[in-house]
Amino acid sequence: HSILILNGPNLNLLGTRQPEVYGPTTLADIEALCAAKAAELGVELTFMQSNHEGAMIDALHAARGVHAGVILNAGAYTHTSVALMDAISSTMLPVVELHLSNIHAREEFRHKSFIAPVAVGQICGFGAAGYPLALDALVSYLGDPQ
Ligand code: DQA
Repeated sequence: HSILILNGPNLNLLGTRQPEVYGPTTLADIEALCAAKAAELGVELTFMQSNHEGAMIDALHAARGVHAGVILNAGAYTHTSVALMDAISSTMLPVVELHLSNIHAREEFRHKSFIAPVAVGQICGFGAAGYPLALDALVSYLGDPQ
């Protein structure tokens, strides 16, 4: 399997961005964690970050036929983007929704996710450790390659 990990706006600032909420781990650290987990699971990984909604939609379209599934931390677009939701429905790619923080325990505007109804499932609240958890979850969802 080949898996895309797509990170949205402001996640490039992890490490310095509100460490009390998101922890001290940088996005490069997270990428390294994911690479180690992917090697253990025997899957290929593409790791991306964009601050632009349209670029994220383009990445989902481009993932069709290339990646077996997607781990998506859409950042604040989670709570606003009908366009990202539609991109997931349109591509029919299996998506695991991921957040470092527990969005349900935070401000009310973070409780609503446009991704959740079109995702296989959601992992949130485990900080950087959620990424390898999401890889485990997606690979087990995908099952053995044909
Ligand atoms: C986030 C949660 C979102 O509410 C927030 O806008 C982010 C990060 C998380 O990983 O906890 O940018 O997706």
